[in-house]
Amino acid sequence: MNEVIEAEVLIIGCGIAGAAAALEAAKKGRKILIVTKHPQPTESNTFYAQGGIVSLGQDDDPELLKRDIIETGDGINNPTAVQILVEEGKKLVDHILIEELQVPFSRSSPDELDYAQEAGHSRRRILHVKDATGRTIEERFLQTLQQFKNVTLLPNHTAVDLLTIPHHSKDPIAHYREPECIGAYVLDNATKKVKMVLAPATILATGGCGRVFLYTSNPENSIGDGYAMASRAGARLVNMEYIQFHPTSLFHRDVDGFLISETLRGEGARLTTKDGQLFMHKYSEKAELAPRDEVTRAIYEEMINTNSNYVYLDLASYTQVDIPKRFPTIYKTCLQYGIDITREPIPVVPAAHYCCGGVLVDDWGRTTLKNLFAVGEVSCTGVHGANRLASTSLLEGLVWGTRASRYINEHFPGKLPYQPSEIHEWYYPHVQESIDPALIHQDWLTIRSTMWNYAGIIRTKKRLERAQADLSYLAHRIQKFYREAEMDPKIVGLKHGIQVAMLITAAALNNPLSRGAHYIRNSSF
Ligand code: SIN
Repeated sequence: MNEVIEAEVLIIGCGIAGAAAALEAAKKGRKILIVTKHPQPTESNTFYAQGGIVSLGQDDDPELLKRDIIETGDGINNPTAVQILVEEGKKLVDHILIEELQVPFSRSSPDELDYAQEAGHSRRRILHVKDATGRTIEERFLQTLQQFKNVTLLPNHTAVDLLTIPHHSKDPIAHYREPECIGAYVLDNATKKVKMVLAPATILATGGCGRVFLYTSNPENSIGDGYAMASRAGARLVNMEYIQFHPTSLFHRDVDGFLISETLRGEGARLTTKDGQLFMHKYSEKAELAPRDEVTRAIYEEMINTNSNYVYLDLASYTQVDIPKRFPTIYKTCLQYGIDITREPIPVVPAAHYCCGGVLVDDWGRTTLKNLFAVGEVSCTGVHGANRLASTSLLEGLVWGTRASRYINEHFPGKLPYQPSEIHEWYYPHVQESIDPALIHQDWLTIRSTMWNYAGIIRTKKRLERAQADLSYLAHRIQKFYREAEMDPKIVGLKHGIQVAMLITAAALNNPLSRGAHYIRNSSF
């Protein structure tokens, strides 16, 4: 018999979007269960966000921000969603982050907040806590949530699949009902047992999928679980081809995906080739402050032209700021690897950073599957269009996390109309093979290098077709492996990962139009 947990709201993932949803529902006394994969619940994409969160700066207004978002998004943003973000964003930053959580945003004077600059923004409008903005926000959220008795955190548990009616119902008549989500199967990573979580409302807040690429700024867990589960459950996904590559992650043999924030360029840092030649002026009038996709492709091009694995980002020669004070995390981390950024340039390479598409949601975070919500990077509100404007993701998570729970607070009953006995239990095969780590390792390497080389920064039809063929062959093997193996977070992750890689590749192949973060070389279609 599976262990059954009942909640009023199940939230899978606890970055800013999941945490904001939890806080809003917790304040109304809802019984909330938050499931996180990592033993440490703060571990999320949010934790690693350095740059900041968009607010409105001086001589700024919502219309200007809207224009910047849509210009960067190449015009295919959802206008209603952008309007919601620019109208509600600053209010929620002030109310939740500054007043309730008391996030200590950096100040330019005791009375004034400091606003940073990033590419694509026509004003300085990014609030930050030095260069550890996401980490500070995440820690404050978790401290606050832990004070609510109606919030239960279930760390070290991996969501395996969404529970849906009719699919998981024992009642054959259920097939005639509208499909709906009623919770999820979650794997206890320690005991390897699957639990059934039943909830009238489920919120996916699982973050992004950068780890399906060989090089990424995302942490280890960002393998796109939410996209895979939502897709299997029948929810609609859109815009998965728009994978944003961050131009600058640290290039170093011993470092895996450490971001060098765009705010360094906002404070004057310039890009040079290995031989110290500036090059961004050749690609854009905005030079280092051009939108990320343009900077990324320029770097990629220069790396090829100069036969180099990296370019340099030179902050020391160009900035006016006190580097260790303004960028303490980046300064200390680079120093740890022998690079003193107050004196020398930083070797950088582009890395997969953000998925602009995802599970399609409406103004309230509702997906196309009844009772399933998605918030944050896993969702697609349409705010980002074909390319995300820097530092808008934390804001989108805050706004839609809050909105989803406002909707749930108002419209959802506390009780589920199903008994656990009506739902199929998790099935364990009779013979369960133990996991061979070498197989998992090699399968991930294949997924990641295939995605990087064939579905990465510059795509062609041939490359994408090759990716699709190779991935679908691998998907069959992984499916068989999954059916026969003992339950383990590693095999669950692999199953999610291959599916996400295939979703991205299929979306890219279905869209012959080069736009924003989906770049096709010379109309190769
Ligand atoms: C950065 O600090 O460069 C990342 C900000 C973002 O991706 O929004």
